[in-house]
Amino acid sequence: MTFARIAGTGSFLPEKILTNKDLEKLVDTTDQWIRDRTGIEQRHIAAADQSAVDLAEPAARAAMNAADVVASDIDLIVFATSTPDRIFPSCACLLQARLGIHGCPAFDIQAVCSGFVYALATAEKFVRTGAAANVLVIGAEVFSRIINWNDRGTCILFGDGAGAVVLQASEQAGILSSHIHADGRYADLLQVPCGIGVNYDDFKAGHGYVEMKGNEVFRMAVNTLGQIVDDTLAAAGLSKQDIDWLVPHQANHRIIAATAKKLALPMDQVVVTVNKHGNTSAASIPLALDVAVRDGRIQRGDTLLLEAFGGGFTWGSALIRY
Ligand code: ACO
Repeated sequence: MTFARIAGTGSFLPEKILTNKDLEKLVDTTDQWIRDRTGIEQRHIAAADQSAVDLAEPAARAAMNAADVVASDIDLIVFATSTPDRIFPSCACLLQARLGIHGCPAFDIQAVCSGFVYALATAEKFVRTGAAANVLVIGAEVFSRIINWNDRGTCILFGDGAGAVVLQASEQAGILSSHIHADGRYADLLQVPCGIGVNYDDFKAGHGYVEMKGNEVFRMAVNTLGQIVDDTLAAAGLSKQDIDWLVPHQANHRIIAATAKKLALPMDQVVVTVNKHGNTSAASIPLALDVAVRDGRIQRGDTLLLEAFGGGFTWGSALIRY
């Protein structure tokens, strides 16, 4: 059987750091409140001339180097983002040209914070069916562009960044199972409420900002992630004890801790970057994965559980033999 194996990881963060102390000057909040409620200490913010593709390019190059592949080896690009450079062409096409890759299919996936898990699950299907052998899977966001910097309920949460993996066809185990879900009935709880088709005048006036009913999203996220963890392990015939590392979407430390508790995993087996990165939406999981691979915590042969929850609502998980 052909598996889809993570052959290399990469990530990139913009230089500018915005601390909680900096936010105290923008809105009525405190460093202590943000740390207590979210675990976030700081986040990176893209420069005015940096786009999602600008952040994705160095992340993709790092993943390709780690996987020891060159441009001509890549036969599919799947790019997860909710903050694309342009309405079209897709970020995947723009990145393809930057990397000097020509002719292979390239497309974007929009599933907000679950975007990377969606992209990974999609890429896995191409690899398993033999349609692709080396897939570049990216999550990259400039969420700072869709934040209302006067709204203390949302502006404290998000940051910018990019992460990437090369998913490669292999006889060795890789992704053991992946699971993706959505329920559009909850669209209004977490949204940018204007765009091309809805409230177009607001969109044209530059009022395309994230709105969130934080409390309700929090409750749904904890319950849904608890359920998907059980379902994922059952589908693979594994038990909680088989998990070496939880690599969760980095939205809020309390949500991450609740999922770890459900898995009976001590926090030192959970990769946490939310303190330094904030919530980078589709970029958060590949960023966290790359950090833990490069600092040596995640080793070949380890079993990883990736999970995410985000706007849509969308949610998903992937169980991986690294
Ligand atoms: N500083 C100080 N006080 C604040 C701030 C702030 N930054 N923000 C809100 N408050 C106040 C509120 O006004 C409220 O005051 P009140 O009691 O006088 O009305 C009080 O703090 C409590 O507010 P809550 O919203 O109940 O605070 P909560 O504990 O729920 O924390 C938070 C808010 C951090 C946003 C949390 O709800 C959360 O993390 N939600 C989930 C976010 C998430 O996971 N999103 C999914 C992925 S994101 C994506 O897909 C794009």
